[in-house]
Amino acid sequence: MATLGEQVSGMQQMDKLVTLCKRRGFVFANAEVYSGLSGFWDYGPVGVELKRNIERFWWDYMVRSRDNVVGLDSALIGPEAVWVASGHVGAFHDALVDDKNSKERFRIDQLLYRSEEDAEAAEVYALKAIADGIDDEAVFWDGLQEQLGYFPLNPNTGKESRFTVPRHFNLMFRQGIGATGEGGQTGYLRAETCQPIFVDFDQTRVSSRQRVPFGIAQTGKAFRNEINPRNFLYRAREFSQMELEFFVRPDQLVEQLRAAQAPDAPGLHDQPGALATTMQWYDYWLGERRSYYTALGIGDELLRIHDHPPEKLAHYAQAACDIEFSFPFGWGELEGVHHRGDYDLRQHQQHSGKKFEYFDDEAQRQLVEGGMNKDEARGLATYLPNCIETSVGLDRTFLAVLTAAYDEDVQQTKHEDKEGDIRIVLRLNPRLAPFKCAVFPLSKKLSGPDSRGYGLYRELLAAGLSAEYDDVGSIGKRYRRHDEVGTPWCITYDFDSEQDDAVTIRDRDSLAQDRVPLSQVVGEIERRLKQC
Ligand code: GAP
Repeated sequence: MATLGEQVSGMQQMDKLVTLCKRRGFVFANAEVYSGLSGFWDYGPVGVELKRNIERFWWDYMVRSRDNVVGLDSALIGPEAVWVASGHVGAFHDALVDDKNSKERFRIDQLLYRSEEDAEAAEVYALKAIADGIDDEAVFWDGLQEQLGYFPLNPNTGKESRFTVPRHFNLMFRQGIGATGEGGQTGYLRAETCQPIFVDFDQTRVSSRQRVPFGIAQTGKAFRNEINPRNFLYRAREFSQMELEFFVRPDQLVEQLRAAQAPDAPGLHDQPGALATTMQWYDYWLGERRSYYTALGIGDELLRIHDHPPEKLAHYAQAACDIEFSFPFGWGELEGVHHRGDYDLRQHQQHSGKKFEYFDDEAQRQLVEGGMNKDEARGLATYLPNCIETSVGLDRTFLAVLTAAYDEDVQQTKHEDKEGDIRIVLRLNPRLAPFKCAVFPLSKKLSGPDSRGYGLYRELLAAGLSAEYDDVGSIGKRYRRHDEVGTPWCITYDFDSEQDDAVTIRDRDSLAQDRVPLSQVVGEIERRLKQC
């Protein structure tokens, strides 16, 4: 857990990010003019660009660059049966307690503890107490105090208080569909993007002619009625996820294939071979996800892996870990990597009455070649695949990217503006930046729709490079604006440009200024982008 000093400076950093997001149009509180709605956020003009760029980056990395991963874009609402089968209606709940003095409501693990381990232990203790039907406050809190060696505090006051016994709170948003009353149906806003992947598994596989191993990916909104939305975008009630469900052969079949000495054909893109176990696939995807963060521009020092102990695994998981990021408020889960076994396909097969099994004709042939009789081989080669999941929040990634990119420098502003001024700069990976470049005419005399600077701006747009034309305020102020939204290259058209047909490209990070012929600017920006 962060020390109090770290928490204070973390809060200051978070305040700076929230202020910058509002000032520059990254993120606004939802419906602020009506006092807002906790846990809901709106992305402004530059925020939506950054968010889409992050999503596109994930999609390119996970889907477009692989020929054994395909995409899906499913409805946000699903019938109750889907969410009963997935276990969410019955088991997707947190343990909540009420503070009897302040009337506040908390998840039990969000009270103030001396360590993260204590918070986790309290949650496990509470879930067990609920399952055991303990409803006596003294029995519950004395028992927890005995286990921890102290009493958890109210996180807002830092003081002891009187809490109710914990009780379940389901996080799903329920929705009546169609006519209410007779004939009306109950649906749920999806609590995760992966369930429709499992439901559509067979249609997606057949229509895309994929063979196991292969993956289905989906990005989009998810909804959870969180008890305490907090830490800005980190815990929201409406958020976006980017999930991959990758289906692999079950271990029992792999064992038999190994015994039959089937060839271990190497996988695509350095993937594990045909005889890889589910845990080998798990390790592969965990490695891929770490490489993805490096490519995204998030340094290794800002990430760590937290393995889930068996007693903390979700109801569907056989192995799981979190990729944690060092957020301003401390370490927090950014992504989960899970070995889900065949839990989800089995559940949907059982509840829908439809077959989800896959017939692996290649495995059958290899088993028969290894000496197994055809019927036995067919039985083994007809299976529900195991599934490895990588699941990351888009909004949490957005917050992580902003946290990693936010910088303030004093020295380097000397020559551009007043000495000692603090320059806020977002050192975003240029591929993620809302604008790749901005064009500044030095003077109003050089501006206007027919000017050559404006012509350059239109040329950049026509080449598919997001750009902004900015002729308002001093050059220093324009640099500041674009440093704060992470624009990597600012291009100034000055009076010399009229004579030498060249402009100055100023680099956001090095502050180097290069004179480049007007006719080569588009190519130069494209060249620089390719290097990122
Ligand atoms: N399909 C598995 C699944 O949904 P999860 O750990 O509940 O697993 C995956 O969620 C990711 O979704 C998290 O690592 C986090 O990045 C994001 N996420 C979950 N709840 C969130 C919330 N309330 N607000 C923002 N992001 C959230």
